Amino acid sequence: MKELNGMTALITGGSKGIGYGIAEMLLKEGVNVAITSRHQDAADAAARELSKTGPGKVIGIAADVRDFESQKNAVAKTLETFGQLDVLVANAGVGHFAPITEMTPEQWHETIDTNLTGVFFSLKAAVDALIDSKGYFISIASLAGTNFFPTASAYNASKFGLVGFTQAAMLDLRDAGIKCTTIMPGSVATHFNNHEPKAEEDAWKIQPEDLGQMVVDLLRMNPRTLPSKIEVRPSQTPKK
Ligand SMILES: NC(=O)c1ccc[n+]([C@@H]2O[C@H](COP(=O)([O-])OP(=O)(O)OC[C@H]3O[C@@H](n4cnc5c(N)ncnc54)[C@H](OP(=O)(O)O)[C@@H]3O)[C@@H](O)[C@H]2O)c1
Repeated sequence: MKELNGMTALITGGSKGIGYGIAEMLLKEGVNVAITSRHQDAADAAARELSKTGPGKVIGIAADVRDFESQKNAVAKTLETFGQLDVLVANAGVGHFAPITEMTPEQWHETIDTNLTGVFFSLKAAVDALIDSKGYFISIASLAGTNFFPTASAYNASKFGLVGFTQAAMLDLRDAGIKCTTIMPGSVATHFNNHEPKAEEDAWKIQPEDLGQMVVDLLRMNPRTLPSKIEVRPSQTPKK
């Protein structure tokens, strides 16, 4: 089984939700983790809490995925602190849901700039370090990257785009030894779209740490095999 202890991961948007859950599970395996947030105080607060998990070490970095310079700085800080970068999890994302008649250009841009262009910026900033480490790139897409629904024009466009981006990146990078996987979750119990997760009400949903376990399992997969696109959904619908 592949030894994860001592690896380094950079997770965009690790201050809460799925990114936080992935950080938790990697830290337990001894992976050193850098998480990002748009705000230094949120990154620091999450890193402080996550540092209780160990044995891996964790730092919080303020970096907005919509800004390429900011992403380059996040990669530089990760390399400066931990000396290597083995895993990039492009997780940061937002959702604006409204019919075309009400969707504003600002909402459209924020969605595409964060969920799609932001992932390109994140991978572009990290790709040389990942080539050096023969590392792993994981994007967090969504079932909205294959199922379309009303009010989701911007979100669907960003996630369909992200699935295509990750698969094309996989073809570009696999002979350089980089693995690329896109994970496409259904409902996860997080703060997404201003939701306040509630333990009992949200118990039927995928929990962030379950996706963290999936990332651990992917990293442990035999190097010759690559699950490149994974749909994941709650095993049951909510109780009526
Ligand atoms: N929850 C679901 O049901 C679900 C299902 C499928 C896919 N997803 C995807 O999962 C990913 C994570 O979402 P979540 O559910 O964990 O939501 P969440 O709880 O709202 O967390 C979103 C994370 O993204 C960060 N973020 C947002 N914009 C950013 C930016 N411009 N630069 C850097 N970080 C940014 C946030 O950090 P700050 O606010 O601290 O900046 C936060 O850490 C998203 O890509 C989402 O589309 C979610």
